[in-house]
Amino acid sequence: QGIRLADYRPPDFLIDSVDLDISLHRSKTRVVSRLAIRRNPKGRPGAELTLDGDGLVLRRLLLDGASVAAEATPDALTLHATPDAPFVLEIETEVDPAANTQLSGLYRSGSAYCTQCEAEGFRRITYFLDRPDVLSVFTTRIEADVAEAPVLLGNGNRIDAGALEGGRHFALWRDPFPKPSYLFALVGGDLSHISERFATRSGRMVDLAIYVEHGKEKYASYAMDSLIRSMRWDEEVFGREYDLDVFNIVAVSDFNMGAMENKGLNIFNDKYVLASPETATDGDYAGVESVIAHEYFHNWTGNRITCRDWFQLCLKEGLTVFRDQEFSADQRSRAVKRISDVRGLRLQQFPEDAGPLAHSVRPNIYHEINNFYTATVYEKGAEIIRMLKTLIGADDFAKGMTLYFDRFDGTAATIEDFLSCFAEASGRDLSQFSLWYEQAGTPLVTVESDYDAAAKRLTLSFEQSTPATPGQSEKKPFVIPLALGLIGENGDEIPLVSREAGAQECERGLIELTTQKRVVAFENVGSHPVVSLLRGFSAPVRLAPPQAAEDLQRLLAHDSDPFNRWQAAQSLALRSIFARIEAARGGPAAEADGPFFDALGRLVEAPERDPSLVAQALSLPSDIDIAREIGRDVDPDVIFSARSGLRRDLGRRLSAALADARARLVPAEGFSPDAGSAGRRALRNAALDLIAAGDPGQGGALAERQFGEATNMTDRLAALSTLSLLPGEAREAAFEAFYARYAGDHLVLDKWFALQSTIPEAETTKRVAQLMEHKDFSLANPNRVRAVVGAFANGNPTRFHALDGSGYDLLASVVLELDPKNPQLAARLLSALRSWRSLEERRRKLAEATLRRVLAAPALSADVSDIATRALG
Ligand code: ARG
Ligand code: ZN
Repeated sequence: QGIRLADYRPPDFLIDSVDLDISLHRSKTRVVSRLAIRRNPKGRPGAELTLDGDGLVLRRLLLDGASVAAEATPDALTLHATPDAPFVLEIETEVDPAANTQLSGLYRSGSAYCTQCEAEGFRRITYFLDRPDVLSVFTTRIEADVAEAPVLLGNGNRIDAGALEGGRHFALWRDPFPKPSYLFALVGGDLSHISERFATRSGRMVDLAIYVEHGKEKYASYAMDSLIRSMRWDEEVFGREYDLDVFNIVAVSDFNMGAMENKGLNIFNDKYVLASPETATDGDYAGVESVIAHEYFHNWTGNRITCRDWFQLCLKEGLTVFRDQEFSADQRSRAVKRISDVRGLRLQQFPEDAGPLAHSVRPNIYHEINNFYTATVYEKGAEIIRMLKTLIGADDFAKGMTLYFDRFDGTAATIEDFLSCFAEASGRDLSQFSLWYEQAGTPLVTVESDYDAAAKRLTLSFEQSTPATPGQSEKKPFVIPLALGLIGENGDEIPLVSREAGAQECERGLIELTTQKRVVAFENVGSHPVVSLLRGFSAPVRLAPPQAAEDLQRLLAHDSDPFNRWQAAQSLALRSIFARIEAARGGPAAEADGPFFDALGRLVEAPERDPSLVAQALSLPSDIDIAREIGRDVDPDVIFSARSGLRRDLGRRLSAALADARARLVPAEGFSPDAGSAGRRALRNAALDLIAAGDPGQGGALAERQFGEATNMTDRLAALSTLSLLPGEAREAAFEAFYARYAGDHLVLDKWFALQSTIPEAETTKRVAQLMEHKDFSLANPNRVRAVVGAFANGNPTRFHALDGSGYDLLASVVLELDPKNPQLAARLLSALRSWRSLEERRRKLAEATLRRVLAAPALSADVSDIATRALG
């Protein structure tokens, strides 16, 4: 079974308006819902009405004020007969927020009531047509104890509020924009807030507020600043204005995901709201900025235009990720942003696409939709939008977006609807392009280059192939935009001259590979060129074969594309690591790294270089990157020692230059989270890390000093992270001091937990088990579980994949203990095993046995059994 895209049918009924009356009580919250229902002219005539539920208890049911026969189970409410004319259904249910540990529906986080309805949480509050293509106008009356919940927030604008008897009060909220139930939200609690006013371009005054726990107001100002910049940017770049009189954000500490774009009332994991120099790293600041932007941008791409069904999830998510990436690129360094986005894509999405959980960006079947909020839907979805813009050009892309907003505003749309706007705006047939949504798997593009010095001609032969993925054995060729340039012997960019059909495309440095093979020749190439291929990572593909070391050196030194300069450093590092692995296996001695190290040294020494780009070049591919490049029979121990060897040698070779760079980059007085300052900190800390890799004594002393003297979390955590790799008393003392200093701040404690979980030492597995006994550990808090168990399973490959199976056992026991409480989170943790097939045999067998053991456990949730089943494939 499973739910299939091919089975989509319009709803048989529509719900024009919803009147909710919700009386909040910790364990007995009464929900009265009045639904104005009518038959959908596009539905099946005579169909019966079935509303979705999940764990509900029906208290009362009236149809047009009179009692009515119905069949109610926790999961559904069915009326076998309904009037032909529109009618009002009044439904009363009772729910228990305090017992809701799934964090879906109405639950409690700390002392506050809050909701999470995407994807199917609204049905845990009341019976409803809980599907995104049913759009209704919501009016919500919320009632609560004044003492417990002085703040009552809903979607839209507040139209009334007042005191009631018995210490209760109410607020009435009305959202004029029809929306699907997944965008419903309410919050009730004793919260503080900060506020600002924002004037939209057309003069609407909007009250902005961010609600946080008492005492946390001062940590919300960067989020507010990010919100205001996002609102301005969306007006300027996409022509999108905000549409209500208020925009509220609430930060809660128990949240399954990052945040949620509920109309006018975004609810956030507080990790993406709260930031101060003393508690947040530069990475955290960047995270706040991008998630605030992401949720705000959803107001148009997600809320005003929503999804017809959950198969279209990438319609809002891929597009909105693209928008938030562009926003951050404009606010910061575009090159650094692109590099970190591609790092993330390769770290998360490529392994997903290469393993048993691979699925297309628009899946065509699911068993549990929550398992499809994936790197593929989000990040690869964003790459598709980026390619679209590259292929049709910025102007036609902008025209297409405008057409999309004009044509589909107020509707629940599909990928076909979206693409039709760009086909129309550009005059291009996008049917082949749409394969990016249909076919899973990362394409491999091989490039052979042949230079004829006498004819001054460079011939490039491209070929694409895409590996089989579950349910898709044969793949058709994709449309792959390959941005490229040629670098001559003296480092100059060689002008592109081509006699091809479509020469214009080639000459502006963009090859469209639309067939399995294509040959392109460039003329007047006077000196032996190096091809800078896939500039800016113009398509989510892998390239082969690896380029020669001298060619990569030339790109690292001279490429005008900053992404490919970084890529050249990564590729050189990978070459070195592969050679070390071969040498360790008794193969030929590793080639000398001297030229590579010297090239990095020149970057470190060049004061004119952007420090953040230099820091990126110094940060070697991670163990997981390396494992992915190896692809099969992966042995994490072998990777770890090769990578450690490279870090040690690099640190030794560059120690003087790194120390100089640190001296040159002494921090300015005061803290600013801006990209320039963050970049200087990043390079100083990358230097610290490599110095310690080369000389643990010297680096340890530097790190200890920095740990003690740091005036911000970026520097303090970087020092602790360097120390965490150096066993001994200094490290343990630093962890203790850190705990003592930040024991009251749960977000900082998450860092303390996570860093310990990733120590690559044999004792860590025991340490993790002990951390789970710590008084500050709780399975009820998703951030804490991710900090301890998620960090261990995804960020500590040698321990997680330990040959005695202890790492897998630890994961399995947490997954099984968590599953009855929070299946979404349990399933997410289990997907750490998604690449098990690429492991070497002993680990592969252990991992497979672990998945089978989980799958055999009684009363497994749909979420976990879906992941385990597909992973075993
Ligand atoms: N739409 C949210 C976002 O991307 C994600 C919410 C997903 N929640 C879930 N339980 N599946 O911003
Ligand atoms: Zn989103």
